[in-house]
Amino acid sequence: ASVVEHTFVVSQVNMTHLCKDTLATVVNGQLPGPAIEVTEGDSVTVHVVNKSPYNITIHWHGVKQWLNCWADGVPMVTQCPILPNHNFTYRFNVVGQEGTLWWHAHVPFLRATLHGALIIRPRHGAISYPFPKPDMEVPIIIGDWWQLDLPQVDQSMKNGSFDFFASGSTINGKLGDLFNCSGVPEGGYVLDFVPGKTYLLRVINAGLFSEFYLKIAGHNFTVVAADANYVSPYTTDVIAIAPGETVDALVVANATPGRYYIVALPNQAPGPDTQTPEFTTRGMVQYRVNHSSITNGAAALRSRRGVKQEENDIGPSGDVALAPQMPDKHDTVTSFYFHSNLTSLHHLTVPQQVDENLFLVLGLGSICRNGQQSCKRGGNINESIVVATMNSVSYQHPTKMPLLEAQYYHTGVLLDAMQELPDGPSRAFNFTDKALIPFGPKEIPLEPSSKATVVRRFRQGAVVDMVFQSTALLQGDSNPMHLHGHNMFLLAQGLGNYNAAKDVARYNLVNPPVKNTVLVPNLGWAAVRFVANNPGVWFMHCHYEFHLSMGMAAVFIVDDGTTADTSLPPPPADFPTCCANDHNLLQ
Ligand code: C2O
Repeated sequence: ASVVEHTFVVSQVNMTHLCKDTLATVVNGQLPGPAIEVTEGDSVTVHVVNKSPYNITIHWHGVKQWLNCWADGVPMVTQCPILPNHNFTYRFNVVGQEGTLWWHAHVPFLRATLHGALIIRPRHGAISYPFPKPDMEVPIIIGDWWQLDLPQVDQSMKNGSFDFFASGSTINGKLGDLFNCSGVPEGGYVLDFVPGKTYLLRVINAGLFSEFYLKIAGHNFTVVAADANYVSPYTTDVIAIAPGETVDALVVANATPGRYYIVALPNQAPGPDTQTPEFTTRGMVQYRVNHSSITNGAAALRSRRGVKQEENDIGPSGDVALAPQMPDKHDTVTSFYFHSNLTSLHHLTVPQQVDENLFLVLGLGSICRNGQQSCKRGGNINESIVVATMNSVSYQHPTKMPLLEAQYYHTGVLLDAMQELPDGPSRAFNFTDKALIPFGPKEIPLEPSSKATVVRRFRQGAVVDMVFQSTALLQGDSNPMHLHGHNMFLLAQGLGNYNAAKDVARYNLVNPPVKNTVLVPNLGWAAVRFVANNPGVWFMHCHYEFHLSMGMAAVFIVDDGTTADTSLPPPPADFPTCCANDHNLLQ
C-alpha cells in the first residue's frame, strides 16, 4: 500500500457558460476537481489550502473512515471549518472498499462546484474485478451549473425564499450542445470509443437538486457496482442516479461505428410548483474509425437496431448522430425500478438481531420567526419560515464547538442545544394523504416544527433499523438519504405507506444492495439496516441540497456506552479550531 498525496487549492475563478461569466469556487482551477485514484489499502493525504473567501471543509463521500471520524469533513459536526487563508491536511486510509466514491465540500451549496471523483481500484489490478476486464475507465460526473452566488442562496433559503434554480446540467463540467451563446454551441462532453472495447463508466451525481437519467443512444449499460459495492450485473439502457449516489457500469463499444448522444436528463416528480430546470445535457460518444465507414454506419445501425430517434444531427462529415429516447422528466417509476433491480453481487451476512428501530418521516414544517410559539403558518406567510424535517424536528449545527470535539473531550457544552431525534409518529397514519400543496401562492398549513441539534446515541455494535417514509408534503422533491461513516443494507423499498405488519416479510436479508446513500422512492419508503460499529459522530442527512440546507439531518453518535468513552483516537495535531466570533460563518 502506498500514500497518495494531493494538494487542493480552493479558490474562486471566472468560468463562462451561457454567455455569462460566473465566479465559481473550485479546486485547482478545475471543474470537476481533480480525481483521487487509489488502490484499496492505500493512505490518502490531501493538503487543503483555502484561498477562497469561504469557510471550507472537504468530505470524502462514502469513505468509511474507520476509527478516523476526525477526517470526515463536516463543519461543526466533526471539525471547525478551514477559514479563509488557512490550511488543513486530511489523512485517511481506504480499506475494504472498491469502486467509485467522490469528494465534495460539505458547505451548503458550494459542493456544486467543489467536487471530484475518488476511485478505488482492487489491490491486484484489473484482474480482480468481478466482471470482464474493462479496456478503459471513464469518470462521468453529472452536475448542475449555477449562475448565482451559492452561499447567498443558502442564506436566502434559510430565510424562507425558494426561487432559485440551476441554469443547466453538466457532464464532466460541460453543459452540452443544446446550449449556445449567440449561435456558438457550448460544446458538450465527448467520449471516444474504439470499436469492440469495453468501457467502465464511473458515474457520479454531484448535482444539488436533481436525480438524473443517463442514456447512450444505441448502447446498453451493465451495472456492476453502486456506492462502491459490487452488485449482480444488471443490464439496462438507462441509469437512474440520485444526488450523492455513484453507479459503475460497463459499456461495450459494439454498435455500428458512428456518433451517439450521451444524455443526462434531470427528472422530477410532478408537482404544482416544481420549476426545476429541464435542462437536458448532451454529450457525444464517437467511434474512432475512418470517416467513410461512419457515414453509412449510422443509417445502417438505425434500421438494424430500431433505435428511436428524437432528433438527428448532421455531423461535419455528413454522418448522423443518434439521440436516445429519454424517459419523461416526471417519470419516477423508472427510477424506482432501476433501484429495485440492484442486489448485492455476493450473499451477505446481514445481522438478524435488531437492537434499535427508527421510523423517520421526511417532511416540511414551519417554525415561527423570532422564536414565538404560535404564528400564522404557511409557505409564503411572513411570520413563519419553512423548514425541512425528520419527525417534525429541523436540524441546526451547534455554534460553540463541533460535536465530535465535545464528544471526545466529554464537555457538557452542547447539551442545551441538543435534542434526541424522536421516533416517528404512528405508523397507521396515512402519509400520502397529507396532500398539502407545497409553496403554492395560498396559505398552507405546515406542521409546527422545532429546530434543534438533533442527535441519536448508539452503543458501539448496535444493529439499527431505519425506515424512511416520504410524504405528500415532499412530492416533487428527491430524498436521497446519506449516512456518514457506515454503509447501510437496503432491505426493501416500496411505494405508498410503510406497513411493518406486511413489509418486514419482504426484507431481503440475503443479498441486499449495500449503500451509503439510499434514495427513498417518491411517495414511498425505504427500509435499511446498519451496524453502528464506527466510533464517532456521524452526519445523516438528505443529499438533496434544499432539504439539507433547511434542516433534514441528524447526527448519530456511536460510542462504547460509558461516560468515559475512549473508543476514539485523539484528533490530528494540526486540527482547525474555531473562535467564537465565527458563529455567523459557521451556520
Ligand atoms: Cu456527500 Cu454529508 O455528504
